[in-house]
Amino acid sequence: MARIAVVAGDGIGPEVVAQALKVLDAVLPGVEATQYDLGAARYHRTGEVLPDSVLTELAGHDAILLGAVGDPTVPPGVLERGLLLKLRFAFDQYVNLRPSRLWPGVPGPLANVKPGEVDLVVVREGTEGLYAGAGGSLHRDTPAEVATEESLNTRHGVERVIRDAFARAGRRERRKVTLVHKTNVLTHAGSLWARAFAAVAAEHPDVATEYQHVDAAAMFLVTQPQRYDVVVTDNLFGDILTDIAAAVTGGIGLAASGCINPTGAYPSMFEPVHGSAPDIAGKGVADPVAAVLSAALLLDQLGHADAAARVTGAVAAELAGRTPGVALRTDEVGDRLAAQAVA
Ligand code: NAD
Ligand code: IPM
Ligand code: MN
Repeated sequence: MARIAVVAGDGIGPEVVAQALKVLDAVLPGVEATQYDLGAARYHRTGEVLPDSVLTELAGHDAILLGAVGDPTVPPGVLERGLLLKLRFAFDQYVNLRPSRLWPGVPGPLANVKPGEVDLVVVREGTEGLYAGAGGSLHRDTPAEVATEESLNTRHGVERVIRDAFARAGRRERRKVTLVHKTNVLTHAGSLWARAFAAVAAEHPDVATEYQHVDAAAMFLVTQPQRYDVVVTDNLFGDILTDIAAAVTGGIGLAASGCINPTGAYPSMFEPVHGSAPDIAGKGVADPVAAVLSAALLLDQLGHADAAARVTGAVAAELAGRTPGVALRTDEVGDRLAAQAVA
C-alpha cells in the first residue's frame, strides 16, 4: 500500500489537505498517510525549518502531499526557501507540472472562452533558474547597497525538462509545445534554452513547436488561453504564468501541481499552486479543489489511474453543480468530493 508523507504546512494548508486526505482515503482505502509537523508553528516552537532527519524520513515515502508553506509571522523566504524549495531541490523534482483546464460549469473570466476550450499544461523547470539561490548583497542598508540574484541554467537541467515536455505533448491530442523565455534580453540563458529546445524538437517531428517571449505569453494567456497545449519554461516564468493560467480557468483555488522527479530516485511532491492564503486562513472557506486535484496527480504518478480518474470525475461533478455567488465551506466540499468519488 502506498505510503504518503503529508506536510500540511501553514494557513489554509491543513484545511485543504484534510479534504484531499478524505478523498484519497475514499478512493484508496488503507493508504498510509503520515503527518509531518513542519512550517511556521514548528519554526516558532523550535527554530527548526526542515531537520536533516526529517528530510531523510520523507525520502522513504512513495510521495509527498503538501498543503502550503509561508506565514506573515515568519520572515519571507525562511519557510519558502528552507522548506518548500529545499524539498523540491533535495528530491530533484525538476518537472513542476501545472495543468490548467476550464472545467464545464466554472465561470471563467473571459467572455470569448467556452468551457472545455482551455486544456493546457505548463511544464515549469523546478530546480534551477533564479530559484537556485545564487547571488548576494553588498553594503547592506547603505545608499551604496547592491543586490544580485543570478539565474542558473545547465544544459542537463534545461534539456531534461524540455524532453519531459515533448514526451507529454506526444501523448496529448494536439501535440504542441510552446517554449516561453525572453531570448531577446536574457541572451545567455535564452540561447541555451532555445538550442536545447531545437535539439529535442528535432527528435520529435510529430510534435508542433512554437516560441514566445514571456511578456507576449502573459498577454496571450489572458486573451487566448485556448492556443496552448504544453508550455515549457524556466522556474520563475513558470511560477508567474501558472498563476495567470489559474486565474483564467476559474481561480487559484482550482489549480493543482506536481513537483515530479521522473526518475523515481526520490519521491515526487503534490501541492496546490496557491499559497497559505493568510487572508482567509482559519475561516473554513478555502476551496479544497486544488489540493484534491493535486491528490489526483499523486494517484496518477503512483500508478492508480482509476482512482485518479474517480477523483477528477468527482471534481468535475462538483464544479458543474456550483452556483456562482454561493459561498462554499471547505469541509463540506471535501465531504461531497469523497462521497462522489466512490459513488
Ligand atoms: P496565496 O495563493 O496564498 O493567496 C493569493 C490570494 O488567493 C488570496 O486572496 C487568497 O485568499 C486566495 N486563495 C489562495 N488559495 C485559495 C483557495 N484554496 N481558496 C480560495 N482562495 C484562495 O498567495 P500569497 O498571498 O501571495 O502568499 C501567501 C503566503 O503563501 C506567502 O507566505 C507565500 O510565500 C506563500 N506561498 C506558498 C506557496 C506554496 O506553499 N506552494 C505558493 C504560493 C505562495
Ligand atoms: C509556488 C510558490 C513557490 C514558488 C514559493 C512559495 C517558493 O509561489 O509554488 O508557486 O515560487 O515556486
Ligand atoms: Mn507561485
